[in-house]
Amino acid sequence: MAQITLALTKGRILKETLPLLELAGIVPAEDIFSSRKLVFSTNEKNVRLLLLRGSDVPTYVQYGAADIGVTGKDLLLEHQGGGYYEPLDLGIARCRLMTAVPVGLSSSQGRLRVATKYVNIARQFYAQKGTQADLIKLYGAMELAPILDLADEIVDIVDTGNTLKANGLQSRHKIADISARLIVNKATMKTKYSDVQAIVDSLSQVVSV
Ligand code: PRP
Repeated sequence: MAQITLALTKGRILKETLPLLELAGIVPAEDIFSSRKLVFSTNEKNVRLLLLRGSDVPTYVQYGAADIGVTGKDLLLEHQGGGYYEPLDLGIARCRLMTAVPVGLSSSQGRLRVATKYVNIARQFYAQKGTQADLIKLYGAMELAPILDLADEIVDIVDTGNTLKANGLQSRHKIADISARLIVNKATMKTKYSDVQAIVDSLSQVVSV
Protein backbone atom coordinates (compact mmCIF):
# COMPACT_ATOMS: atom_id res chain seq x y z
CA MET A 1 0.00 0.00 0.00
CA ALA A 2 1.21 3.51 -0.82
CA GLN A 3 1.78 6.10 1.92
CA ILE A 4 -0.91 8.76 1.80
CA THR A 5 -0.49 12.18 3.40
CA LEU A 6 -3.76 13.99 3.96
CA ALA A 7 -3.59 17.73 4.71
CA LEU A 8 -6.43 19.07 6.86
CA THR A 9 -7.40 22.65 7.65
CA LYS A 10 -7.17 23.74 11.29
CA GLY A 11 -10.00 25.56 13.03
CA ARG A 12 -13.76 25.35 12.57
CA ILE A 13 -13.58 23.26 9.43
CA LEU A 14 -11.59 20.54 11.26
CA LYS A 15 -14.48 19.89 13.66
CA GLU A 16 -16.65 19.01 10.66
CA THR A 17 -13.93 17.15 8.77
CA LEU A 18 -12.99 14.61 11.47
CA PRO A 19 -16.47 13.05 11.77
CA LEU A 20 -16.56 12.63 7.97
CA LEU A 21 -13.13 11.01 7.99
CA GLU A 22 -14.22 8.71 10.81
CA LEU A 23 -17.28 7.63 8.83
CA ALA A 24 -14.90 6.95 5.94
CA GLY A 25 -12.80 4.75 8.28
CA ILE A 26 -9.89 7.11 9.06
CA VAL A 27 -9.37 7.96 12.72
CA PRO A 28 -6.39 9.89 14.21
CA ALA A 29 -4.29 7.80 16.60
CA GLU A 30 -4.58 10.51 19.28
CA ASP A 31 -6.80 13.46 20.14
CA ILE A 32 -5.94 16.18 17.63
CA PHE A 33 -7.58 18.97 19.62
CA SER A 34 -5.55 18.44 22.80
CA SER A 35 -2.20 18.19 20.99
CA ARG A 36 0.23 20.76 19.60
CA LYS A 37 1.52 18.28 17.03
CA LEU A 38 1.10 19.00 13.33
CA VAL A 39 1.44 15.43 12.00
CA PHE A 40 -0.76 12.57 13.21
CA SER A 41 -0.73 8.89 12.42
CA THR A 42 -4.08 7.15 12.03
CA ASN A 43 -5.70 3.74 12.48
CA GLU A 44 -4.76 3.14 8.81
CA LYS A 45 -1.03 2.38 8.78
CA ASN A 46 -0.48 4.05 5.40
CA VAL A 47 -2.45 7.24 6.12
CA ARG A 48 -1.13 10.25 8.07
CA LEU A 49 -2.75 13.60 8.69
CA LEU A 50 -1.20 17.08 8.54
CA LEU A 51 -2.74 20.09 10.29
CA LEU A 52 -2.26 23.26 8.25
CA ARG A 53 -3.66 26.71 7.77
CA GLY A 54 -6.34 26.46 5.11
CA SER A 55 -4.50 28.79 2.74
CA ASP A 56 -1.43 26.51 2.85
CA VAL A 57 -3.34 23.31 1.98
CA PRO A 58 -3.46 24.01 -1.82
CA THR A 59 0.29 24.73 -1.77
CA TYR A 60 1.17 21.45 -0.01
CA VAL A 61 -1.03 19.50 -2.43
CA GLN A 62 0.13 21.42 -5.52
CA TYR A 63 3.76 20.47 -4.85
CA GLY A 64 2.95 16.92 -3.74
CA ALA A 65 4.13 17.43 -0.13
CA ALA A 66 0.62 16.22 0.68
CA ASP A 67 -1.29 13.82 -1.57
CA ILE A 68 -4.80 14.86 -0.59
CA GLY A 69 -6.12 18.03 1.03
CA VAL A 70 -9.27 19.40 2.59
CA THR A 71 -9.83 23.15 2.41
CA GLY A 72 -12.42 25.80 1.63
CA LYS A 73 -13.43 26.63 -1.93
CA ASP A 74 -12.68 30.29 -1.11
CA LEU A 75 -9.01 29.46 -0.59
CA LEU A 76 -8.93 27.33 -3.74
CA LEU A 77 -10.39 30.20 -5.76
CA GLU A 78 -7.82 32.54 -4.25
CA HIS A 79 -4.87 30.17 -4.75
CA GLN A 80 -3.01 30.94 -7.97
CA GLY A 81 -1.36 27.57 -8.61
CA GLY A 82 -2.83 24.43 -10.18
CA GLY A 83 -1.41 20.93 -9.93
CA TYR A 84 -4.38 19.30 -8.26
CA TYR A 85 -7.83 17.88 -9.03
CA GLU A 86 -10.91 18.75 -7.01
CA PRO A 87 -12.89 15.48 -7.07
CA LEU A 88 -15.29 16.01 -4.18
CA ASP A 89 -17.45 18.67 -2.56
CA LEU A 90 -17.53 17.62 1.10
CA GLY A 91 -20.66 19.69 1.75
CA ILE A 92 -19.34 20.98 5.09
CA ALA A 93 -18.31 24.47 6.24
CA ARG A 94 -20.89 25.98 3.92
CA CYS A 95 -20.96 29.76 3.62
CA ARG A 96 -20.92 32.52 1.01
CA LEU A 97 -18.24 34.83 -0.29
CA MET A 98 -19.82 38.28 -0.36
CA THR A 99 -19.11 41.93 -0.76
CA ALA A 100 -20.33 43.97 2.21
CA VAL A 101 -20.85 47.67 2.83
CA PRO A 102 -21.82 49.90 5.78
CA VAL A 103 -25.59 49.83 6.40
CA GLY A 104 -27.36 52.75 4.79
CA LEU A 105 -24.36 54.06 2.90
CA SER A 106 -25.07 55.14 -0.65
CA SER A 107 -22.53 54.17 -3.27
CA SER A 108 -19.24 56.00 -3.03
CA GLN A 109 -17.85 58.39 -5.61
CA GLY A 110 -14.75 57.62 -7.62
CA ARG A 111 -12.54 54.59 -7.20
CA LEU A 112 -13.78 52.00 -4.77
CA ARG A 113 -11.49 51.00 -1.90
CA VAL A 114 -11.94 47.31 -1.11
CA ALA A 115 -10.37 45.60 1.89
CA THR A 116 -10.02 41.82 1.75
CA LYS A 117 -7.76 38.85 2.21
CA TYR A 118 -9.11 37.54 -1.12
CA VAL A 119 -7.31 39.98 -3.42
CA ASN A 120 -7.19 37.66 -6.45
CA ILE A 121 -10.89 36.82 -6.25
CA ALA A 122 -11.76 40.49 -5.66
CA ARG A 123 -9.60 41.71 -8.56
CA GLN A 124 -11.40 39.33 -10.91
CA PHE A 125 -14.84 40.13 -9.51
CA TYR A 126 -14.57 43.92 -9.84
CA ALA A 127 -12.87 43.65 -13.24
CA GLN A 128 -15.81 41.56 -14.51
CA LYS A 129 -18.24 44.18 -13.19
CA GLY A 130 -16.22 46.91 -14.84
CA THR A 131 -15.70 48.62 -11.48
CA GLN A 132 -12.40 50.36 -10.80
CA ALA A 133 -11.29 49.11 -7.41
CA ASP A 134 -8.20 49.67 -5.28
CA LEU A 135 -7.59 46.51 -3.30
CA ILE A 136 -6.23 46.65 0.23
CA LYS A 137 -4.84 43.35 1.49
CA LEU A 138 -5.75 42.40 5.06
CA TYR A 139 -5.23 39.14 6.94
CA GLY A 140 -8.35 39.18 9.16
CA ALA A 141 -10.97 41.37 10.86
CA MET A 142 -11.95 42.83 7.49
CA GLU A 143 -15.15 44.19 9.06
CA LEU A 144 -13.13 46.89 10.80
CA ALA A 145 -11.90 48.47 7.57
CA PRO A 146 -15.09 50.39 6.61
CA ILE A 147 -15.64 51.49 10.23
CA LEU A 148 -12.21 53.13 10.30
CA ASP A 149 -12.58 54.46 6.75
CA LEU A 150 -9.73 52.33 5.49
CA ALA A 151 -12.08 50.98 2.80
CA ASP A 152 -15.54 51.55 1.28
CA GLU A 153 -16.40 47.87 1.20
CA ILE A 154 -15.02 44.44 1.99
CA VAL A 155 -14.97 41.01 0.39
CA ASP A 156 -15.32 38.29 3.03
CA ILE A 157 -16.90 35.03 4.04
CA VAL A 158 -20.42 35.30 5.46
CA ASP A 159 -22.01 32.43 7.39
CA THR A 160 -24.68 33.53 9.86
CA GLY A 161 -24.21 37.22 9.02
CA ASN A 162 -23.70 38.00 12.73
CA THR A 163 -20.22 39.48 12.29
CA LEU A 164 -21.43 41.87 9.60
CA LYS A 165 -24.44 42.90 11.69
CA ALA A 166 -22.37 43.43 14.82
CA ASN A 167 -20.15 45.83 12.90
CA GLY A 168 -22.83 47.83 11.11
CA LEU A 169 -22.33 46.19 7.72
CA GLN A 170 -24.67 44.46 5.28
CA SER A 171 -23.92 42.03 2.49
CA ARG A 172 -24.35 43.26 -1.07
CA HIS A 173 -23.21 40.97 -3.90
CA LYS A 174 -22.66 37.22 -3.69
CA ILE A 175 -19.42 36.22 -5.37
CA ALA A 176 -19.58 32.45 -4.75
CA ASP A 177 -21.13 29.69 -2.67
CA ILE A 178 -18.41 28.12 -0.56
CA SER A 179 -17.92 24.72 1.07
CA ALA A 180 -14.98 22.47 1.93
CA ARG A 181 -13.52 20.52 -1.00
CA LEU A 182 -11.27 17.49 -1.35
CA ILE A 183 -8.26 18.06 -3.59
CA VAL A 184 -5.76 15.52 -4.91
CA ASN A 185 -2.28 16.11 -6.33
CA LYS A 186 -2.33 15.35 -10.07
CA ALA A 187 0.76 13.13 -10.06
CA THR A 188 -0.48 11.25 -6.97
CA MET A 189 -3.74 10.53 -8.76
CA LYS A 190 -1.70 8.44 -11.21
CA THR A 191 1.08 7.01 -9.03
CA LYS A 192 -1.08 6.09 -6.01
CA TYR A 193 -4.35 5.70 -7.88
CA SER A 194 -5.98 2.81 -6.01
CA ASP A 195 -5.16 4.10 -2.50
CA VAL A 196 -6.29 7.64 -3.32
CA GLN A 197 -9.43 6.49 -5.13
CA ALA A 198 -10.36 4.28 -2.15
CA ILE A 199 -10.31 7.36 0.12
CA VAL A 200 -12.21 9.51 -2.40
CA ASP A 201 -14.83 6.73 -2.79
CA SER A 202 -15.34 6.20 0.96
CA LEU A 203 -15.67 9.92 1.54
CA SER A 204 -18.08 10.38 -1.36
CA GLN A 205 -20.30 7.73 0.22
CA VAL A 206 -20.56 9.62 3.50
CA VAL A 207 -20.99 13.18 2.29
CA SER A 208 -24.50 14.54 1.92
CA VAL A 209 -24.24 17.37 -0.56
C1 PRP B 1 -15.04 34.43 9.25
C2 PRP B 1 -15.23 35.66 8.38
C3 PRP B 1 -16.17 36.51 9.17
C4 PRP B 1 -16.99 35.50 9.95
C5 PRP B 1 -18.32 35.34 9.30
O1 PRP B 1 -14.03 34.69 10.15
O2 PRP B 1 -13.99 36.29 8.10
O3 PRP B 1 -15.47 37.37 10.04
O4 PRP B 1 -16.29 34.25 9.91
O5 PRP B 1 -19.16 34.47 10.05
P1 PRP B 1 -20.65 34.89 10.44
O6 PRP B 1 -21.32 35.37 9.19
O7 PRP B 1 -21.27 33.61 10.96
O8 PRP B 1 -20.56 35.95 11.49
P2 PRP B 1 -13.39 33.55 11.06
O9 PRP B 1 -14.01 33.57 12.40
O10 PRP B 1 -13.46 32.22 10.35
O11 PRP B 1 -11.90 34.01 11.21
P3 PRP B 1 -10.86 34.53 10.12
O12 PRP B 1 -10.94 36.03 10.20
O13 PRP B 1 -9.57 33.99 10.59
O14 PRP B 1 -11.26 33.99 8.77
